[in-house]
Order: sequence, then C-alpha cells, then structure tokens
Amino acid sequence: MQRFKNKFILVTGGTNGMGYATAEQFIKEGGNAIITGRSIETVHRALEQLGKNSYGFVSNTANMMDILLLQEKVKQYTPHIDVLFVNAGYAKFSSVEIADESHFDELFNMIVKGTFFTVQQILPLMSNGSSIVLNTSVVNEMGMLNFSVYSAAKAAVKSFIKTFTTEFTEKGIRVNGVSPGYIKTNGFNNTGLNPKQIEDVIKNVIPTIPLKRFGAPSEIAHAVLFLASDEASYIHGTELIVDGAFSVFK
Ligand SMILES: NC(=O)c1ccc[n+]([C@@H]2O[C@H](COP(=O)([O-])OP(=O)(O)OC[C@H]3O[C@@H](n4cnc5c(N)ncnc54)[C@H](OP(=O)(O)O)[C@@H]3O)[C@@H](O)[C@H]2O)c1
Repeated sequence: MQRFKNKFILVTGGTNGMGYATAEQFIKEGGNAIITGRSIETVHRALEQLGKNSYGFVSNTANMMDILLLQEKVKQYTPHIDVLFVNAGYAKFSSVEIADESHFDELFNMIVKGTFFTVQQILPLMSNGSSIVLNTSVVNEMGMLNFSVYSAAKAAVKSFIKTFTTEFTEKGIRVNGVSPGYIKTNGFNNTGLNPKQIEDVIKNVIPTIPLKRFGAPSEIAHAVLFLASDEASYIHGTELIVDGAFSVFK
C-alpha cells in the first residue's frame, strides 16, 4: 500500500519504540518522515536505520525553547506537514506520599505542555486534509497504583483530543488519539526501575492482559497510520485504544 505517497509526517520521539515504528511504516507507504529525539546519537542512529526519505533533528519536548524552534527546523525539509504524531515522552511512577515537585513538573512539562505547544507550533504548517494523532495511554482513566501524575498528564492529552478537534475542524484538520496499553519498548528504561524490577513488572502484568502479551510498537504504528489515512476520513475526535483489552478487564 502507498497511502502516504509524497506526504510528510512529523513524529516527535521518533528515534525508538512506537514513534520509530510509525516513521518506518509511513516511509514504507511512500511518505517522508521527520523525527525528533533527545540526543544527536539517538537521532542519527534512527535516521541511519530508517534510510531514504527520513530526516530529523534533536528537540527536547520538555524544553520550551526547543518547541519554539520546531517550525523553523521542520521548514528545512518541507513547507507543510500532512501528519503530526505527537508521541515523545516516557512514564515515571511514584506514590502520592513521596512524589515531589520535580516529578510532577517533569511529567507535566513533557507530556502536557510539550503536547500543547508542539501542536500550536506545527499548526501553521498544516492545512485542509491533514491530520494530528496524539499519543495518550489507557491509564488516562484507570486507577493504577503509583501512576497518579503520569495518568493525569495523559488525561490532559485525552482532553486535548476533544478541544483540538473542535478548534481545528474549520481548518479541515482531523484530530484523534491513540491510546496504547502495555507495549514492548525501551520506555521502561526511563522509569527509574532497575532491570530486575522491570522484569518483575512484566512478569506480573502479562497475566492481567487478556491477550497475554505486550503489544508491539508496529501494532501502534498501524493504528496511527489508519487514523491518519483517508480510510479514517470520518473519524475525528476519537481515542483509539490498542491494549489487548487490558483496560476492559481491569
Ligand atoms: N510503552 C508503553 O507501554 C506505553 C503505553 C502507553 C503510552 N506510552 C507512551 O508512548 C510514547 C512513546 O513511548 P515508547 O514506549 O515508544 O518509548 P521509547 O521506546 O522509550 O521511545 C520514546 C521516544 O520518545 C523520545 N523522547 C523521550 N523523552 C523525550 C523528550 N523529552 N523530548 C523529545 N523526545 C523524547 C525518545 O527519544 P530518545 O531516544 O532520543 O531518548 C524516543 O524517541 C510516550 O509518550 C509514552 O508515554 C507508552
């Protein structure tokens, strides 16, 4: 399929995991992908692997200066963006008792402020027929232990899906969200858990997922590309849950 021939996607956090998988599939379908990441090393490695029709630069979504430079940097490659996948980020967990202000600010700056201002800055490059997909999480309305700040930040992203939909309808820009459950990525490396703790979490979580496995990044990429494609032309303001029914059985 070549659903995105000559189109441009901007994927924030496209060096790894779901963002990388989305950029990869977009290119396979005839498109061009611009990715961002936190370091020159991760961006270069990803661009080497993605090959032709991939572009990218360092941009920290928790840093307002970087976000304000996004538009100019994207314009080095294209004057317009057809698909914006706002994906950059990671989870961190803490009980309410020990969470400090830096934990709260880290997650809200990166996830809430980062998502809002990324969309604001890229919006002028988007026109009628283009599409935005925000990466939220099924935990945005679940009561998971130690997830209070992360879940609240992702709940704000869920809220943006609705408000952006209303605000951008007149511009002909569709807005949707993808809401992953447990996906096998490097995301756990940012959580502060050590490898043994990560292994234990995975072992404990798998029996609670009806499909008895973590999802693959490519399964999120398929959902993002569907939402961005013409096949989803009447899907606007929706959150697509991709979680092996994890949130259904909780
Ligand atoms: N994995 C899950 O189970 C799961 C479930 C629900 C939602 N999510 C969400 O899915 C998104 C992608 O996560 P993933 O699981 O695919 O993780 P991942 O494999 O660790 O990839 C995260 C990507 O985001 C980038 N990134 C992280 N912090 C950033 C920042 N401050 N500024 C710019 N880029 C940043 C990373 O860049 P570098 O490589 O340069 O660090 C990387 O490209 C996140 O928003 C996460 O909250 C994950």
